[in-house]
Amino acid sequence: MKIGNIEFKNNLILAPMAGVTDVAFRSICISCGADAAVGELISAKALVYQNKKTQEMLVTSPNEKIKIVQLFGSEPDVMAKAVKLPQLKKFDIIDINMGCPAPKIVNNGEGAALMKDINLAEQIIRACVNATDKPVTVKFRLGWDSKRINCVEFARMCERAGASAITVHGRTRDMFYSGKADWGMIAKVKSAVHIPVIANGDVSNIESYNSILKKTHCDAVMIGRATLGNPQIFADIVGGTKHTKMYYVKKHVKLLRKYYPERFIVAHMRKHFLWYLKGIKDGAEIKAKVSVSDNVDNSIELMQTVLK
Ligand SMILES: Cc1cc2nc3c(=O)[nH]c(=O)nc-3n(C[C@H](O)[C@H](O)[C@H](O)COP(=O)(O)O)c2cc1C
Repeated sequence: MKIGNIEFKNNLILAPMAGVTDVAFRSICISCGADAAVGELISAKALVYQNKKTQEMLVTSPNEKIKIVQLFGSEPDVMAKAVKLPQLKKFDIIDINMGCPAPKIVNNGEGAALMKDINLAEQIIRACVNATDKPVTVKFRLGWDSKRINCVEFARMCERAGASAITVHGRTRDMFYSGKADWGMIAKVKSAVHIPVIANGDVSNIESYNSILKKTHCDAVMIGRATLGNPQIFADIVGGTKHTKMYYVKKHVKLLRKYYPERFIVAHMRKHFLWYLKGIKDGAEIKAKVSVSDNVDNSIELMQTVLK
């Protein structure tokens, strides 16, 4: 797949997952075979107002050769201002979030709420496209709910507004993350536009990766939840090296320590440790201890007793 002049080798992308896809995890997924990993969801407004925490979220790792930043917002001029900021200079692709279902986002008319206001969504995309020479991409869902499925019309609008590619998550906003992703609808989007379409939703192994490509004929695949505790999924798909879970656990912590203070790592890694421990038989006691531990090295030692 090519987005603008940017070539994707494996056509595989780690999905953005706010609060989860930290710089270390993204780096690991890329070493495993993902071409790119979308960074943390960034508020255009917070960026424009120089919010310090937001600036810190823009950190990237040296192996992120294709850097993608994802912005959200509902004001075209603020979005355009954000796109022009020097802090975004290092990014290769600007992605606009039009699929986030979280109430605090949609109640502000942002994220998936923009699927209900296609004219405003178009103004936002045009404003961003006019503000930069970089490719602008859009990530959205099938529609707001089952009665308002408008992804085909929305995709055509994105193309008309100048988007260089789109990602379609095969669920409506009101499904949040439950129910089955509708790959048939993603296929309809793919056949309606000429720009690259990235398929997303419910890819959990090499079989479902092959199935989504076969069903949708999309240009690339984006994987989210199935990567948690299992970055190996990318290596399995591309035929890369097999590593143990403990290898990933240790690498994740080691890399994070290059970027963040221990205080952050302790709290952040608890959820990742539980994902790495998922499916481990008789691991309940260790999971309970790890989920409250305030010492990362102790957690690693404990995990070593049940994980290879
Ligand atoms: C914890 C979590 C956080 C997410 N955060 C974002 C986000 O910031 N931006 C976004 O576009 N999608 C976000 N998503 C949606 C994923 O990118 C993806 O579209 C969705 O999980 C479906 O893909 P999957 O079935 O492979 O997980 C998030 C999903 C989860 C589970």
